[in-house]
Amino acid sequence: MRKGGKILAEILHEIAASVSPGMTTGELDRMAAALCKKHDVKPAFLGYQDYPAILCVGVDDVAIHGIPSDEEILIEGQTISIDMGIIFKDMYLDHAVTVGVGTIDEEGEKLLHSTELAMKAGIAQAVAGKHTGDIGYAIEQVALLAGLSVITAMTGHGVGRKLHEEPSIPCFGERGKGFRLVAGMTVAIEAMINEGTGDLEFLSDGWTTVTQDGMRSAIFEHTVLVGDKSPEILTIR
Ligand code: MF3
Ligand code: CO
Repeated sequence: MRKGGKILAEILHEIAASVSPGMTTGELDRMAAALCKKHDVKPAFLGYQDYPAILCVGVDDVAIHGIPSDEEILIEGQTISIDMGIIFKDMYLDHAVTVGVGTIDEEGEKLLHSTELAMKAGIAQAVAGKHTGDIGYAIEQVALLAGLSVITAMTGHGVGRKLHEEPSIPCFGERGKGFRLVAGMTVAIEAMINEGTGDLEFLSDGWTTVTQDGMRSAIFEHTVLVGDKSPEILTIR
């Protein structure tokens, strides 16, 4: 998973760095396909419960599980979340970032910065003896301090031999509550945060979720190894 994590971080970095006005999200998905070939890894989302693409992308108010499309052209000032999973030597890795398309407004910068910070605060809790509630609590505190809301309908999760394993890791929680963490566990810690309320709606494709109030949403996610004293981020270059 350490090796696979490095590969996924490299791939997602390359995709995120290529984001620019005029591109389509379908192009990003094809780039992901080419990079999976190049690094000899399998995409984890494609075909998962019939999901039709390699990436999940979320432009502005699209929150999670947005499907890339050749009709979706990126425009300067938008924000886009890019979520990707791979299988490397039968092990799953899961990682997401949110970036601006060209230059974005100050509120957008704040949303991205705060969501990344919330994920990092959550990751800091991924040590033996802590609970999933400690991770969720940390994520939500950072969001609330920034005047933002966490998404409650989706969660982070255990990851390893499967894409989604126990325990689920919500972006909220009570300290000391939930599942007790043990050294050696690998978890996908996801901060999913909205500018407005945390409420989502499904689009008719059955996958795409959008914010109910039309405000923007961001996601940052790392696959993390729970340690005795400190967490180790695996999806890092
Ligand atoms: N990181 C997301 C999650 O864990 C992506 C899953 S996409 C799916 O829910 F299409 F595979 F479901
Ligand atoms: Co995930």
